[in-house]
Amino acid sequence: MSRVYNFSAGPAVLPEEVLREAADEMLDYRGTGMSVMEMSHRSKAFAGIIQEAEADLRELMHIPDNYKVLFLQGGASQQFAMIPMNLMKNGVADYIVTGQWAKKAYQEAQKYGKVNKIASSEDKTFSYIPDCSDLPVSPDADYVYICENNTIYGTKFKTLPNTKGKTLVADVSSCFLSEPVDVTKYGVIYGGVQKNIGPAGVVIVIIREDLITDDVLPGTPTMLKYKTHADAGSLYNTPPAYGIYICGKVFKWLKAQGGLGAMKERNERKAALLYDFLDQSRLFKGTVRREDRSLMNVPFVTGDGELDAKFVAEAKAAGLESLKGHRTVGGMRASIYNAMPYEGVQALVDFMAQFEKENL
Ligand SMILES: Cc1ncc(COP(=O)(O)O)c(C=O)c1O
Repeated sequence: MSRVYNFSAGPAVLPEEVLREAADEMLDYRGTGMSVMEMSHRSKAFAGIIQEAEADLRELMHIPDNYKVLFLQGGASQQFAMIPMNLMKNGVADYIVTGQWAKKAYQEAQKYGKVNKIASSEDKTFSYIPDCSDLPVSPDADYVYICENNTIYGTKFKTLPNTKGKTLVADVSSCFLSEPVDVTKYGVIYGGVQKNIGPAGVVIVIIREDLITDDVLPGTPTMLKYKTHADAGSLYNTPPAYGIYICGKVFKWLKAQGGLGAMKERNERKAALLYDFLDQSRLFKGTVRREDRSLMNVPFVTGDGELDAKFVAEAKAAGLESLKGHRTVGGMRASIYNAMPYEGVQALVDFMAQFEKENL
């Protein structure tokens, strides 16, 4: 068996210990004589799995009791509709557009009400986070929406926007559990787990209880009401059971690493290694304004499309996988999520230095 260093933006690298444990339990989960894949979601064994997963996540993120944790499906993209359907009581929402995912959410919300783009960084190809300290937040806005870490462009909000008292809704798909967060600052925190937490197919929504009501937009399907899932403990219908089981293992792994404070330190060390290299390189260049750089997704270019393609191909041959930039922006992108070891980033930097010598 040989494993590569996988820099994919998602689905992405998972902790090897977690994969091994799952392999060990594949045929017989703790004496049940079956795989978690084969198990009723109403069984005692699965009740234990989902309850423990939620308890561990609550502990990791210090989630207060007045927030629900929901394990849902439909990808992060389904939340682009669920959020307005459930939260737009006045039919108004404000969006900060800092990348393609925020833009998609903004466009989807327009189906359901009056949606204002109160800030954007599209003028400079989403390479920075706009100043959000004094935005024209609408007096009747039901919420202010951000994508906290922009997977494609590699920017991250280092301070949350001043929402002027309005509910903050954040897509944290690509920075979930990468550092401590103050949950009380948000009304809704959500993300697809396939980047930092588990296999594709699970979306975690952390939502303040007062936002979970029957007062949703007319025509909202039962499955798209937060209340449906909150009332049923995420077991209204068959949940993505195996995915939740793996998420639970990753939560335990994170606790064993020392929790989110320790992950932040580790992620900062890894990111610094790569950014410091980029800052002194004569061939490679980071594309993001320094103060807005993401710890998770690091885009870079040589400035020459052919050389970029050569780099990606040679890196792959050297066991450094999935370094091609998003199909809409080109160049390269290294996603260095929680489960990417420091040695993986070191191997990338060493390879980049060698490539620079050979190609400059
Ligand atoms: C920040 C962010 N939001 C949303 C999505 C869409 O997620 P999904 O494919 O689960 O719908 C992605 C996917 O890469 C993402 O990076």
